[in-house]
Amino acid sequence: MKLLVTGGAGYVGSVCAARLVETGHEVVVVDDLSTGHADAVPDGATFVQADIADVAADLLTGGFDGVLHFAAKSLVGESMADPAKYWAGNVLTSLRLLDAMRDNGVPRLVFSSTAATYGEPEQIPILETAPTRPTNTYGATKLAIDHAITSYATAHGIAAVSLRYFNVAGAYGRFGERHTTETHLIPIVLQVALGTRPAISIYGDDYPTADGTCVRDYIHVLDLAEAHLLALANTRAGEHQVYNLGTGTGFSNREVVQTCRDVTGHPIPADFAPRRAGDPAVLVASATAAAENLGWKPERTDLHTIITDAWTFTRDRA
Ligand SMILES: NC(=O)c1ccc[n+]([C@@H]2O[C@H](COP(=O)([O-])OP(=O)(O)OC[C@H]3O[C@@H](n4cnc5c(N)ncnc54)[C@H](O)[C@@H]3O)[C@@H](O)[C@H]2O)c1
Repeated sequence: MKLLVTGGAGYVGSVCAARLVETGHEVVVVDDLSTGHADAVPDGATFVQADIADVAADLLTGGFDGVLHFAAKSLVGESMADPAKYWAGNVLTSLRLLDAMRDNGVPRLVFSSTAATYGEPEQIPILETAPTRPTNTYGATKLAIDHAITSYATAHGIAAVSLRYFNVAGAYGRFGERHTTETHLIPIVLQVALGTRPAISIYGDDYPTADGTCVRDYIHVLDLAEAHLLALANTRAGEHQVYNLGTGTGFSNREVVQTCRDVTGHPIPADFAPRRAGDPAVLVASATAAAENLGWKPERTDLHTIITDAWTFTRDRA
């Protein structure tokens, strides 16, 4: 298929673009490099450096079979401090993309949604039918885009799949996580092992979990990429399918830090800070629907494997 990959110079987008090229698709990456890196665009993909909002209408005249839409602003704290950046950067940009798909008859869309659309869960594991009550602007903008996709799918016959990722981690060869502003636990802990950060603070050790620290569902970025390939192959015209992507298993912050110590051989000093407002004790996905309807089965679910891949990428780049 001829595919447009938005945000293909970013972390998840670059891994997915690489797998799409490897599996024989014709890939055009559009990325404004606001948080991405030109050298993360995989060989074999055509790269257009631009803001999607400016170029979607022209780009999509080129006979595309589908769009994988990864591009977004995705820092929760920033989204609360500067909501306009998120409503414009995420929602308006996505509407321009959807308009261009409609106008050019582009039939398929796979969208990077997020667990943040659910907010505080009432039940664990989190099902796709759980209430969507985002507790931050980032999650609210992603939910708004999900709603827009449903409307465009119904009205214009677009075949769409939203994938709600939980905590993405790990790396795929030279493609990995290198956000300038890093907010994700594993890369932050690995910065300590690398010597670019003195210690790690774990927020809260009095949660109602086995070891008192928060539990999160980590999904290997390569398993995530395989889910995108399956989603692309299983779209249905006029339908908007929504799937959680997690493993159904959680790891605590304490376990993450200890596994980083085991993998890197570094003592990684850690202290405990007070809980952060709005951090739920446990966020774990039900991955049953993606398994049943897409045939998706994550294979790299072991925390040691996930962190080893992230560490190999981090150390090799240092
Ligand atoms: N990483 C995670 O744990 C995680 C979890 C849930 C959802 N997501 C979602 O997955 C997607 C990818 O996340 P990531 O971690 O790879 O982020 P990232 O910041 O590494 O990648 C986003 C890419 O989009 C580009 N971009 C942003 N706005 C653009 C625009 N208007 N035009 C063109 N390019 C633009 C950036 O330059 C960057 O390369 C995002 O939509 C994010 O919300 C990520």
